[in-house]
Amino acid sequence: MSEPIILKGKPVADAILDQVARDVNYLKEERGITPGLSVVLVGDDPASATYVGSKERKSRELGLNSVTYRMPENTSEEELLDLVERLNNDPTVHGILVQSPLPSHIDYNKITLAINPVKDVDGFHPVNVGKLVIGLPGPLPCTPAGVVEMLKYYKVATSGKRAVVVGRSNIVGKPLANLLAQKRDGGNAIVTIAHSAADDLGAITREADILLVAIGRPNFIGSDMVKEGAVVIDVGINRVDDPDAKRGYRVVGDVDYNQVAPKCSAITPVPGGVGLMTIAMLMQNTIASARGDFNQS
Ligand SMILES: NC(=O)c1ccc[n+]([C@@H]2O[C@H](COP(=O)([O-])OP(=O)(O)OC[C@H]3O[C@@H](n4cnc5c(N)ncnc54)[C@H](OP(=O)(O)O)[C@@H]3O)[C@@H](O)[C@H]2O)c1
Repeated sequence: MSEPIILKGKPVADAILDQVARDVNYLKEERGITPGLSVVLVGDDPASATYVGSKERKSRELGLNSVTYRMPENTSEEELLDLVERLNNDPTVHGILVQSPLPSHIDYNKITLAINPVKDVDGFHPVNVGKLVIGLPGPLPCTPAGVVEMLKYYKVATSGKRAVVVGRSNIVGKPLANLLAQKRDGGNAIVTIAHSAADDLGAITREADILLVAIGRPNFIGSDMVKEGAVVIDVGINRVDDPDAKRGYRVVGDVDYNQVAPKCSAITPVPGGVGLMTIAMLMQNTIASARGDFNQS
């Protein structure tokens, strides 16, 4: 087997962010609109704080009106609902993102339902999930939409291909499977969703022309689980201890890259693959919301 194509996220994310920058200028200069993104972080989970910091930095860099609300761990559900309501009613706010996980005393679903679907730039509100499933335009969940953008950018054909999505979370696995099954460009795949109830996961994953993995298990998918020549998309982001690393850990995917890469035709690295797409898609959703794209649908 020849060397696999390394599907890096950076060129894809950069292309999207360049377009976002042009769209921001257009909205500001031609329509007098500064796209506004409000991000809410409750508590001090270090990984969440890092994600929120990156979102804040990127949106400022692009000229968005970016506001981050950092609230203490003991914030009540009511206080958070009040803030969401305020943001819903603020015309300068086009995108609202409440970073998960939330502290256990706050009902995540209740908060998601409270966000105005038009401003739901995470694409997690049930109205937007429904739109995704029936193929109506709306904000798409960022990571799955980013995967589809990568497949399109690298001209990975999906139509008629066997796609196996491992993982069925509401934020990655299920929406990704739905996007791949849509009757449109970047879709039309024959999709299987696998999860922890599979008796023989390898028998399922070996059928995949395109294998997409989002399970949160470091290096779980080995070469024996992948068909020769498959395209492998690794969504996993896992910290594993590494005393030699500066921070004491390194980041690996759900796929054992060194084992699997020689067997496949194309593969996303971790880090440097899908992970870079999420923020790019978030910016794209925010601009689309500011432009009013989600108002009519
Ligand atoms: N920006 C990004 O790139 C980005 C964004 C989001 C998530 N992620 C990463 O993607 C990974 C998944 O995230 P998530 O939020 O979707 O995770 P999650 O909510 O924990 O869901 C994990 C899914 O994987 C399945 N699973 C777990 N162990 C399995 C096994 N041994 N065999 C088969 N299926 C198994 C679970 O099955 P059950 O449903 O049966 O329990 C579940 O459906 C994580 O590493 C996360 O950090 C990356």
